[in-house]
Amino acid sequence: MPPPKMPPRGRILIVDDEANARAALAEILHDEGYTAETAADGFKALGKLTELDPDVVLTDLKMPGLDGLALMEKGHAACPATMFVVMTAFGSIGNAVEAVKRGAENYVTKPLDTEVLLAVVARAVEKSRLVRENLSLRARLRDRNVFDHIVGDGPRMRELLELVAQVAPSRASVLITGESGTGKELIAGAIHKASPRSRAPLVRLNCAALAEGLLESELFGHERGAFTGAIARRDGRFQQAHGGTLFLDEVSEIPQATQVKLLRFLQERSFERVGGNETMRVDVRILAATNRDLRALVDAGRFREDLFYRLNVVSVEIPPLRDRRTDVPTLAAFFLKRYAEENGKAIDGFDEDALEQLENHPWPGNVRELENAIERAVVLCDEPRIGRSHLPVGVAPRPGFEGTPEVPGASLRDLERWAILKTLEGCAGSTSKAAAVLGISTRKIQYKLHEYGAPGGEPGPEDET
Ligand SMILES: Nc1ncnc2c1ncn2[C@@H]1O[C@H](COP(=O)(O)OP(=O)(O)OP(=O)(O)O)[C@@H](O)[C@H]1O
Ligand SMILES: [Mg+2]
Repeated sequence: MPPPKMPPRGRILIVDDEANARAALAEILHDEGYTAETAADGFKALGKLTELDPDVVLTDLKMPGLDGLALMEKGHAACPATMFVVMTAFGSIGNAVEAVKRGAENYVTKPLDTEVLLAVVARAVEKSRLVRENLSLRARLRDRNVFDHIVGDGPRMRELLELVAQVAPSRASVLITGESGTGKELIAGAIHKASPRSRAPLVRLNCAALAEGLLESELFGHERGAFTGAIARRDGRFQQAHGGTLFLDEVSEIPQATQVKLLRFLQERSFERVGGNETMRVDVRILAATNRDLRALVDAGRFREDLFYRLNVVSVEIPPLRDRRTDVPTLAAFFLKRYAEENGKAIDGFDEDALEQLENHPWPGNVRELENAIERAVVLCDEPRIGRSHLPVGVAPRPGFEGTPEVPGASLRDLERWAILKTLEGCAGSTSKAAAVLGISTRKIQYKLHEYGAPGGEPGPEDET
């Protein structure tokens, strides 16, 4: 009873050196709506593999010539989405276990139990489809250059971009965390672009920028007369983002009352305009970002726990630049190219001194600070290479410290660093003495030292920075 006209349920390649076994299996699978091809040994199977790209290879283990295991090993490389199910004689399960260890998706024992066989094949086909979708998605992402403008060669960024590619296709809410300037907005943009929503808008709202009442009406819209000044009905960002993505930046700043409404949207996908009672439904994916420790705000009762979980279905943590120093030269080269082109300058690199400065600087302002430093250097530089003198004052002094920061000219951050390091020097390196002199906690000094990349610094709690 093959369902006529239905697309095949999957492509199966049967490999067995016994002709009768092959034919019987092919018939069973064909009756179930699969396309079934056969091969009499490993070598022949390998030949058919690339041409067929089957979802599942159902293979005997012991065959003359190329055996099942060898076929699997070679086959994996040629067809990464193909699942291998091995057939083994009852009583030699050991072989099957070995095969699974080496990458087989599953095994069935001979004599075959048709029910079991069909269940195993159906699952393997399903798995193959998933792998295929995933592979094609990544290929599409590569084709569409979604990540082209994101530098991420180091292992931590590569892992992060992998995660981004994985979560992009779904509607799952993503919470992006990281210090200021680490690239949260950039990542939010990439998630949207890599998603099936990329043709619809990505609407951004900075939750810290609006007063309480305004934020709510900005998000959800309002009816005419909802409040003083509401002279006409207005749609909110949710409606603007319909079919697309809403990026809530600085999400920690959402006031409690608005948190409730946002939670309701995430639970029911519906809301009402401010001052209205018509229930609106939109299809919007939420991305949120914060540079604060949202978990700690939950613990402190400042942020709703239920909302936290709804926003944080997937969490993407962008590490600070000082924790991925190998990215610094790559990012520097990337920005150099960008700004040299933009400014029409032929600068082709950094001299050793400048590079050393870049590599030693702790980059408290993360990628943004680096980008600004390079842009400034490009503007100042009239030589073929950027030197140390082109880098901003903040970047030039090294943790060991030479010289006094210029006033005016130095940033408060430089002055603070100078004060801390100088005091520490005067206290013969004792962080507790220096802390007492400066009137701050020892942990804060240690945290700062860690930030400067200086020796003796231990990471301190964030709330003390
Ligand atoms: N991996 C990266 N590759 C290329 N450019 C980057 C990367 N990370 C950040 N940038 C650039 O650094 C700048 C700051 O990034 P972004 O605005 O996304 O940071 P942010 O985390 O949102 O900061 P804030 O918390 O201050 O809002 C942007 O110009 C962005 O394009
Ligand atoms: Mg931002």
